[in-house]
Amino acid sequence: MPLLTIETTCDETAAAIISKDRRVLSSVVASQDELHARWGGVVPEVASRAHLERIIPVIDEALVKAGIAISDLVAVGVAVSPGLVGSLLVGVSAAKAIAATLNIPLVGYDHIAAHVYACRVAHGDAMQWPCVALVVSGGHTSLFHAISPLELNRLGGTIDDAAGEAFDKAAALLGLGYPGGPLIEKAAVGGRADAFRFPRPLSSDRTRLDMSFSGLKTALRYVVRPVGVDPVPPPPTGQKRADLAASFQEAIVDSILAKLFLAIQHTGAHTLAVGGGVAANKRLRAAIEQFAIQQRIRVLIPPPSLCTDNAAMGAIAWERLEQGSVDGLQLDIHPGTDRTKAYRS
Ligand code: KG4
Ligand code: ZN
Repeated sequence: MPLLTIETTCDETAAAIISKDRRVLSSVVASQDELHARWGGVVPEVASRAHLERIIPVIDEALVKAGIAISDLVAVGVAVSPGLVGSLLVGVSAAKAIAATLNIPLVGYDHIAAHVYACRVAHGDAMQWPCVALVVSGGHTSLFHAISPLELNRLGGTIDDAAGEAFDKAAALLGLGYPGGPLIEKAAVGGRADAFRFPRPLSSDRTRLDMSFSGLKTALRYVVRPVGVDPVPPPPTGQKRADLAASFQEAIVDSILAKLFLAIQHTGAHTLAVGGGVAANKRLRAAIEQFAIQQRIRVLIPPPSLCTDNAAMGAIAWERLEQGSVDGLQLDIHPGTDRTKAYRS
């Protein structure tokens, strides 16, 4: 009784086939990184056009890899929020067409809640609710008290840039390319994390669970391109670049850890679930695992392929199906919502 899930919120075209017991029978992700690299970030119009070209081949490949026919599907799940308008529309339109043709249920789900649910997909029953959930990606950096898979209460998060966005902009300043997170991580190898003291805004404020990353990016900019220096110097290389990357990465890790600590204290939660593309970062993973040992809490972080955007985390659609909660063909997208509650119809 497999379900098809479709993910086109940003610049990854993805489809997966998931059985009722949440086994991932196949998961296909077509990345658009090479299309956006020359612009240093995602260009919405380019992304939606690329989704349009790729969505059918990606779904076909997911069916073939799972070894099933399209007529075997019992439902279609699709990410409807948050994301880029043109990108979301492609996935939702494809999902509607398949659901209407096969006369099977259609289920919309929230991309952020799905990032948390990746922990359930990766770790099975070890993932337990309620928990504190950290979603740290290119578009979002938020902390939630996750009551159940479909009910996320936002505790706090970034008040400006997302952590992934900061990584991407820092990589551009260092002349490393796009997407920046993995490139900064690589450049940081052999670098000293204490070589540059970058700001950790709001970290010592124990009254709120908010974070800020835009000043960090600006601080890096002033080191790399000092005011009044003309012409603009080329991006640093060698040990200086490694030191800058390691110090920048450490500032992001510290900022997140400070608020994780408060979130655990505030909720009394014993489980911490982490998701989103930046959760693929080895330094962040190690720091969070160390933190969990100190706090005597259980931490769940999916493998990197389930942290960055994918459709396997769309297994969350089963949660709504099992509640008998489905959508009709009037299902709409919710692009701009940094939703404090998981998507519900
Ligand atoms: O979850 P995701 O694939 O897409 C969004 O929902 O935003 O996250 C993408 C972000 C990008 O900013 C990328 O630079 C960052 O995740 N990222 C990383 C790493 N891998 C991906 N950041 C730091 N270290 C990594 N290894
Ligand atoms: Zn994402």
